Amino acid sequence: MKFEDIKTVGCLGGGIMGGGIAQIHAIAGYNVVVRDISDDAIAATRHALFDGKWGIKRAVERGKLGFDEAVEAMARVSFSTDLAALRDCDIVIEAIPEKLELKQEVFKELDSVVKPGAIFASNTSGFCIEEVGRDVSESRKPLFVGMHYSNPVPTMKMLEVISTQQTSEDTTDAARRLGEATGKAVSMVKDTPGTYGFLLNRIFGAAYREARLIADQGIATKEDIDKAMITGRNWPSAFFGSRGGIGKEW
Ligand SMILES: NC(=O)c1ccc[n+]([C@@H]2O[C@H](COP(=O)([O-])OP(=O)(O)OC[C@H]3O[C@@H](n4cnc5c(N)ncnc54)[C@H](O)[C@@H]3O)[C@@H](O)[C@H]2O)c1
Repeated sequence: MKFEDIKTVGCLGGGIMGGGIAQIHAIAGYNVVVRDISDDAIAATRHALFDGKWGIKRAVERGKLGFDEAVEAMARVSFSTDLAALRDCDIVIEAIPEKLELKQEVFKELDSVVKPGAIFASNTSGFCIEEVGRDVSESRKPLFVGMHYSNPVPTMKMLEVISTQQTSEDTTDAARRLGEATGKAVSMVKDTPGTYGFLLNRIFGAAYREARLIADQGIATKEDIDKAMITGRNWPSAFFGSRGGIGKEW
């Protein structure tokens, strides 16, 4: 699958990340199919995507998106609880809960449903991408890649594209260019078995361990550590007040 041939993007899992991923692709002009496992989960994602704090309607109110563009983007998104709804997608980006066995199981099932040639991408926060795609067919492995977004996806520009040893150049190129087409600043990262986290979360993790050590040894209070990072490095949040935007409270 080449970047130019991508027309329809599947989101496997709505939720905080999947909803944001769906939104940015719809705004960029792609048809989007969101698959979640329950009607309640779909209703929550639909609400966040259209009416939520970072949703399409707020983007219009904040002058980030024209009214007509917003209406067109909303019309490009469909929702389903049926995995088969993803059958004709050109790329499926997975954002289901961070459980390795669950991701492996769902990708295996997806492999038998989605057309050959479609790219599979995982938004895992840190599992080795090769491990996440362990159970897909050999023919899908060159099409398997990591695409790690930051929360909230509509506003945070970062995207890590993670390539395994088996990811083809076409797949890596398509993931990078798709990221750029949605306005992301893309960092390319090599998949590294035996570690958790790619670039962003490994560096954040190292800084967090140091911050904990400083707090635990009584060298500075948690409040003063946060204060120093926010005012001295312009971080929007630090370690202890808010762990970097995980969840909806960001
Ligand atoms: N929240 C963050 O800040 C953040 C940032 C980067 C990456 N991530 C990663 O993104 C992934 C999703 O995280 P989240 O915070 O959006 O979780 P979330 O709980 O908000 O969303 C997960 C969604 O997946 C759905 N789901 C569960 N099983 C499914 C299945 N088999 N098929 C389809 N949908 C299914 C759930 O119903 C839910 O709507 C995780 O791997 C997480 O580590 C999260």
